[in-house]
Amino acid sequence: MDRLVIEGGRPLEGTVPTAGAKNAVLSLLTAALLTEEEVRIENVPDLVDVHTMIGILEGLGGEVSFEPGGVVRAKVGAIHDPVAPWDLVRKMRASFEVLGPLVARCGRARVSYPGGCVLGLRPVDVHIKGLEALGARITTEGGDVVAEAPRGGLVGAEIYLGTASGSSVGATRNVLMAAVLAKGTSVLEGVACEPEIVDLAQCLIKMGAKILGAGSPTIVVEGVERLEGTCHRVIPDRIEAGTYITAGAITGGRVRVTGCRPEHLSSFLEALRAAGCPFERGEDWVETQPRGSADRLQATDVTTQPHPGFPTDLQAQWVSLMTLADGISLVTERIFSERYMHLSELLRLGAHVRRQNQTAIVEGIEGLSGAHLTANDLRGSAALVLAGLVATGTTEVHRVYHIDRGYERIEERLRALGANIRRESGD
Ligand code: EPZ
Repeated sequence: MDRLVIEGGRPLEGTVPTAGAKNAVLSLLTAALLTEEEVRIENVPDLVDVHTMIGILEGLGGEVSFEPGGVVRAKVGAIHDPVAPWDLVRKMRASFEVLGPLVARCGRARVSYPGGCVLGLRPVDVHIKGLEALGARITTEGGDVVAEAPRGGLVGAEIYLGTASGSSVGATRNVLMAAVLAKGTSVLEGVACEPEIVDLAQCLIKMGAKILGAGSPTIVVEGVERLEGTCHRVIPDRIEAGTYITAGAITGGRVRVTGCRPEHLSSFLEALRAAGCPFERGEDWVETQPRGSADRLQATDVTTQPHPGFPTDLQAQWVSLMTLADGISLVTERIFSERYMHLSELLRLGAHVRRQNQTAIVEGIEGLSGAHLTANDLRGSAALVLAGLVATGTTEVHRVYHIDRGYERIEERLRALGANIRRESGD
């Protein structure tokens, strides 16, 4: 297993382009299951999770190529056995989102139950409720969720998809993809408004789907009989962009993140402004401005919420930033009950952090000192790398495969910004 070795303490300086959004690409790939024709996706990041989803499509009989320059061509002809088994679904929760497209196209599907994960209990009840409302009969057999459409196919319905924490990105995508091929009209209420949902809807519309309202809490779908192939360029990854902006902010350097959509990051940028971090932004870039080493940021509270609120996928990175701010910050996680694995690792760097219920209490200190850290989840690992960039001495982040699920060649990108970071193998 690889590890990242970081000699911290240098302000970063330079430009980093934003890659395509992992969480958008994953669902664009599942959308390819809705047609026999080729779906061409551009700006696809070369990530482990993307290859996992490609493996699932291939397992279902699809022909998928990943060409240089980030172009994926996916053509899923006849699907003889609409099954996504445990050994593939367990690697990545998003695999469960093949259920909706498969039952819509094939009339039946069998997908392993994804189970919980390090972020806490992650139920799929809303996915199931939504598909049942469209007429699917859902049962659980041997740990798999089995969905069967009625004889005439799925039928449009009015469905509320809200969750205790607001909305579900995955359930919205799963049910939306089933509804586009259902007969008649579906009104999906309480749906997620994340930019990745809008990107999926735009791709589906190009494939011939009739969808109104994506990006708002109500989506109306008029079912169609079939979808065709298309070409779609995925949106930039707002979480990757936010992570590199945080790298500029935490090191007090000048980092220009290009090719991003600052409007997808409004609550995060608002928090950065409140913390006193100087930055400039344009239509498709954000640049952190240098700060003196004695010029500390102000402690700033954030609470994670569905979009357009502060994203849960930037919570861990924000905690790292606040470990060095002046004062006490309260960072409250409202989406995933156990998304705090990074806290115990940050303690090893000397950070003053503790947890009370759903809130991380972060008492900012003047400096961190390097240590051996263990990555436990994707965004938490990114937060540890960020902290390592400012800690004095050497920080080694072990089990770095988590980072490779969501950040394309992170060490190369950070090195291009002047960071002293290298990958070593053989942990
Ligand atoms: C997506 O996960 C993202 N993953 C996550 O990114 C992201 O953190 C999350 O949305 C929230 O923004 C992908 O897009 C592949 P949810 P998802 O369903 O869809 C509850 C990353 O680091 N819920 O929106 O699985 C659930 O427990 C990853 O890139 C139900 O109660 O998340 C949670 O509290 C991690 N019942 C809330 O909804 C359900 O049936 C939001 O989860 C489904 C969800």
